[in-house]
Amino acid sequence: MLVIRLLVRSAHILAATAWVGGSILYLLAVIPALRSGGPAPAVAVQIAALFRRIVNICVGVLLLTGVYLTFDRLTQTRLGWSYLIVLMLKIAAALAMFVFAIYLGQSNIRRLAKRSTRLSKAAPQLILALGILVFVLGAFLNSLFEATIAPH
Ligand code: HEM
Repeated sequence: MLVIRLLVRSAHILAATAWVGGSILYLLAVIPALRSGGPAPAVAVQIAALFRRIVNICVGVLLLTGVYLTFDRLTQTRLGWSYLIVLMLKIAAALAMFVFAIYLGQSNIRRLAKRSTRLSKAAPQLILALGILVFVLGAFLNSLFEATIAPH
């Protein structure tokens, strides 16, 4: 049980780090570097497609491991309202990330149809901002859980 918990937790944190860390690298380093080289080269399309594949895997891992972690936490001990409220906020923000990621995944079709929307342009920044928020809420949940089980 301890090994499974360790593996699931590690997979959850690794997928979260790959998605949020990858988004920071993509937005702050890869895109500016590609833009400074003039019109988008073919490699830009390749990078975008490969990053989308990584994000799809991360979403799958985060959903599966997130459900396990939630079940594991809620069945271990009686957690207070503060834990439950923060957990609900975290799940809502995570679900918003997934929706934006799906929307962004379809934006190629919109671009080809020359129907890029303001939302599809802002989606990468929104995903990153939500990702940082979800990361902080995850760390906060951990502190709340430890405070609950620590001897008073
Ligand atoms: C529906 C999806 C998700 C669910 C149900 C979920 C649920 C959980 C739960 C129950 C924990 C354990 C909290 C504790 O220690 O008591 C956790 C930890 C964590 N989650 Fe999620 N999560 C989801 C998606 C995400 C996403 C999208 C990210 C970031 C992009 C993320 C980042 C983290 C991090 C970094 C931790 C570990 C915090 C730490 O141990 O310091 N989670 N998550």
